[in-house]
Amino acid sequence: MFISKLSSQVGQMVKGFTRAGQLKYVTRTENMRRSYSCYLQHLKHRPFSTTAAEINCEEGNEQKEKISVTFVDKDGEEMHIKVPIGMSMLEAAHENDIELEGACEGSLACSTCHVIVTDVNYYNKLEDPTDEENDMLDLAFGLTETSRLGCQVIAKHDLDGIRVALPVATRNFAVDGYVPKPH
Ligand code: FES
Repeated sequence: MFISKLSSQVGQMVKGFTRAGQLKYVTRTENMRRSYSCYLQHLKHRPFSTTAAEINCEEGNEQKEKISVTFVDKDGEEMHIKVPIGMSMLEAAHENDIELEGACEGSLACSTCHVIVTDVNYYNKLEDPTDEENDMLDLAFGLTETSRLGCQVIAKHDLDGIRVALPVATRNFAVDGYVPKPH
């Protein structure tokens, strides 16, 4: 009697261990499958990449890739941030407390999100500006050959490592300490 009870309990314990082991195995296999799938997706986007775009495979096999972006402020100080693919430089600046104004919040009705792409090779990787963007850029203070509106520069794999400089002033307000003289 005692022996049969004991053997039944041992049997249940073994079953429990086996189930736990199986569960652990299934979980580990699933994690490996997710990592591999994430890696394949990364390769699909950047088959010959040697740069440091960050792969971040999170729960639910959701892939969130980020690129490295450097903002250079009006004093020449650099801020290195990670920007998720698909996010505009204006949004990225705001998320990281970088002083890029963006008065119209990306609706192409101002030029206060003006940024200067410091490397022409990166500038050439951007989509061509639309007529609306060009119209607004014409109003930007200190326009350069590689000027763009920050709300129209969207993070993508090719832009990993881009540097964008903030102009010393915008049309909306002077940011370099200039105080207008009374008439
Ligand atoms: Fe106004 Fe970009 S925020 S055009």
